[in-house]
Amino acid sequence: MCGIIAYTGDRQAAQLLLDGLSKLEYRGYDSTGISVIDPKDGPKVHKSSGKLQVLLDILGNNLPSGTIGIGHTRWATHGKPTDFNAHPHTDCSTDVVVAHNGIVENYLEIKDELQREGHKFASETDSEVLPHLIERFMAQGYTLEESMRNSAQRIRGAHAVVAASRHEPGKIVAFRLGNAGGIVVGYGKNEMLLASDIPALLNHTKTVAYLGAGETVSITNNQVTYSLLDGTPVGKKPSQVSYDPLSAAKGNYPHFMIKEIHEQPEAVVNTLRERISFDEFRTTLDEFPFSDKEVREFNRVVLIGMGTSLHAAMVGQTWIESLTRIPTEANNSSEYRYRNPIIDKRTLVISIAQSGETADTVSAMEMAKNLGARQITLCNIEGAQSTRIADGTMFIRAGLEVGVASSKTFVCSLTTLLVLAIYIAERRGTLSENHARELVTELSRLPNMLGSLLSNEQQYQTLARDYGNYSNFLFLGRGINHPLALEGALKLKEISYIHAEGYQAGEMKHGPISLIDKNMPIVALIPQDDLYEKMFNNMNEAAARGGKVIAIASEGDSEVEGIAEHVIYVPATSPLINPIPMAVPMQLFAYEIAVHRGCEIDQPRNLAKSVTVE
Ligand code: G6P
Repeated sequence: MCGIIAYTGDRQAAQLLLDGLSKLEYRGYDSTGISVIDPKDGPKVHKSSGKLQVLLDILGNNLPSGTIGIGHTRWATHGKPTDFNAHPHTDCSTDVVVAHNGIVENYLEIKDELQREGHKFASETDSEVLPHLIERFMAQGYTLEESMRNSAQRIRGAHAVVAASRHEPGKIVAFRLGNAGGIVVGYGKNEMLLASDIPALLNHTKTVAYLGAGETVSITNNQVTYSLLDGTPVGKKPSQVSYDPLSAAKGNYPHFMIKEIHEQPEAVVNTLRERISFDEFRTTLDEFPFSDKEVREFNRVVLIGMGTSLHAAMVGQTWIESLTRIPTEANNSSEYRYRNPIIDKRTLVISIAQSGETADTVSAMEMAKNLGARQITLCNIEGAQSTRIADGTMFIRAGLEVGVASSKTFVCSLTTLLVLAIYIAERRGTLSENHARELVTELSRLPNMLGSLLSNEQQYQTLARDYGNYSNFLFLGRGINHPLALEGALKLKEISYIHAEGYQAGEMKHGPISLIDKNMPIVALIPQDDLYEKMFNNMNEAAARGGKVIAIASEGDSEVEGIAEHVIYVPATSPLINPIPMAVPMQLFAYEIAVHRGCEIDQPRNLAKSVTVE
């Protein structure tokens, strides 16, 4: 996850930026850089691939002088982790410096346009279009702040961007679009700071404010102004953060779970980093442990997991089977380990365990290993048990998840599984070029899709008021979205203690339909796909029996409004991608109901983050 720190005040900036970067190291990164604006000579940029220590060694005691600057830790998405690709980036004449977190989805088109105007690019990154866009607008007479706003309106995707210019000494401007990580504004005495996260500010101030999506901030040593992207001023009061590092890590969120739900767009960027080539529409998995010959020899894939990870495995089953054409099954680890299953060296076992310590999953993996299976594990924790048993590990890179009920680890497990499915399909030659292009293009839109789902939380608060006192819920889905119905029901059970069942909608007539009446709300997952009409009929059947239907449908589908009491829209995407954005309404719905009911959200009763006993 990229990290940003910026300072303007009356102290020397360089050391302060380097200290700030060290506090952001926990986010993970592959390159670092700082730029300090010298009052006479303008911005000086020092950057390097590798760890912060590499940059510290390069700089030694020769720190650049100046009291305003920007620092960055980069996690590569577009362009390898090289010195040139590290941030901050500059415009043609090194007047403007920019640090960026996010993916400029339309950077190729903008870069092409800027190059035709004569702009010279020094890196392979998407980010570098930003300083050149700002340069172009400033040359037209706009201020730095106006140029930032204009640039924000040109780029697609979710972003946190910080910039300074030698032409406006002492000033730093930032904007945030969607949810590509936060920007926290730190208020000091005769100094102001900006950072991706609070730990980078705590040595200097405990007085902070948070930049919302679609907002810009402009700081000098003793002034701060906030506005919307159209320039409308925004009033914002700073607040005090706690000294306790864990509460500090929670920022201005009331619970870790909601913070982690909000981290999903950024987490997914990290999951995809260097695994997907957005330009060539293919996958690269350096950690994949098997040769192409072995991949061609697999004749069965078995996915295992527990809880939310089992639901990810069930979605993975459809992805892997449909893309690779290898017979695939998803199993609950605690059942599978006692089943005496057929396994040999042509069986690929894929285990999903965010903790890597779930006793049943680890034991099932050991059993499979003894029977000769090839194994890959998906995990969020380095050095976990599961990673020591498998032949190879794909880290899901969700970042630390504190909330016991999984949210971002689910979305990152799904994303990792889809990349893995595409990768295996490419190796086996079962994926057409067009289909690969479609999937990769939609994967690149994913952070933005997830961000857009986080922008209308009000509707979940309304739903929580209307539905928070019911005792039972039914979640219905079909095909690849059935596991999401299970996940929606699980989330509700886990954190709000309401009884909920997830069902295949086609199974409804074989039992659950007898439960439906006005006291049984039904959450119907009905995105646009091949099963849409069948799902539509099932929804109708439920409504006809008095059930109150909450539909989760694709944007643009007004048909469902005729039947459902309430519709939550998710961005329309390719049918195979649907389950990933679909996860977000499940999480927010359960979260707001749990808040409404006053439940202990981050640590629900009787549950543990990692279940290390059978
Ligand atoms: C516990 C957690 C769940 C998690 C499950 C599997 O039940 O509360 O959030 O989904 O374990 O965990 P794993 O580490 O194997 O993914």
